[in-house]
Amino acid sequence: MEQELVSLQTKAKEQLAAIENSSQLEEFRIQFLGRKGQFSTIMKNLGRVPKEDKPRMGQMANGARKEIEALYSEKQTALASCGKSPSQSSDAIDLTLPGRRPVIGKLHPVTQIMNEVCSIFEGLGFAVAEGPDVEHDHYNFEALNIPAHHPARDMHDTFYVSDSILLRTHTSPMQARIMETQQPPLRVIAPGKVYRCDSDITHTPMFHQVEGFLVDKNVSFADLKGILTIFTQKMFDKDLELRFRPSFFPFTEPSAEVDIACVICGGKGCRVCKRTGWLEILGAGMIDPEVFKKVGYNPEVYSGFAFGLGIERIAMLKYGIDDIRLYYENDLRFLSQF
Ligand code: DAH
Repeated sequence: MEQELVSLQTKAKEQLAAIENSSQLEEFRIQFLGRKGQFSTIMKNLGRVPKEDKPRMGQMANGARKEIEALYSEKQTALASCGKSPSQSSDAIDLTLPGRRPVIGKLHPVTQIMNEVCSIFEGLGFAVAEGPDVEHDHYNFEALNIPAHHPARDMHDTFYVSDSILLRTHTSPMQARIMETQQPPLRVIAPGKVYRCDSDITHTPMFHQVEGFLVDKNVSFADLKGILTIFTQKMFDKDLELRFRPSFFPFTEPSAEVDIACVICGGKGCRVCKRTGWLEILGAGMIDPEVFKKVGYNPEVYSGFAFGLGIERIAMLKYGIDDIRLYYENDLRFLSQF
């Protein structure tokens, strides 16, 4: 019995020393220290030992087991603290687990549409110009043929900074700023933020517009129609029909509001187009001679067209969104869909 105990102890020590990972260690535990393990078997056999030897043998068996238990837990700590490289202890890292995906940011849908609009016009030879959000009354109104007390000012719900300084209500002031400093021929778009004191499901106090204008000799309304037709077809990827409705803007004459056949129902009539089959997407017209005079261009020599479009409106139509405010609530579940 004594011999048996000593050889068991030696065997256990040897095996323990050779263990490299926790599953081998667990096998060891079951084989030697478990309820049906070899040390338990020896303990059970103590019954067969002569009575006078029992206490000594009992002590010996307990001592041997304790020593192995101590070595076992040392080994356990060593493996846990990763004494071995991950490739050696194959269970330290589960290579079959799927990786963690980092959250990758992307452009805001309004920025995406803005970039798309700009690149379509750049492809048509337009230069891009940016101007200030905080604007003089002069450029926002006066230079565009909207004098003080003109009823057209009421449409703009202006945020004033002082008597003569305001947050621009449209990107049209860029027409005056550019024409004042450059001579025709001109082909320019001016994208940017604009501000109006207005908020409901189709209006936010800040939104984006792209202003476009072209000035040269012999520019006609047909040129305007051509450019806008190409633009809308590229933007909405279809052979969309356009409709020009007579309208009024102080800085263009004649003026038009431009509709496209409803992108949702194709013109048959639905909730989005209010059963008309048409959606308004921009304002446009031939630049008013008064605007030319204010920047020193001779209206007898030059003519031009201008247009202004709302980016959020295009984004809403393109993606079928019926509440503009969703774009600015910064809910990533909404924004990440685009
Ligand atoms: N500035 C106008 C607005 O914000 C839009 C507009 C209409 C711009 C007609 C133009 C134009 O250049 O010709 O409501």
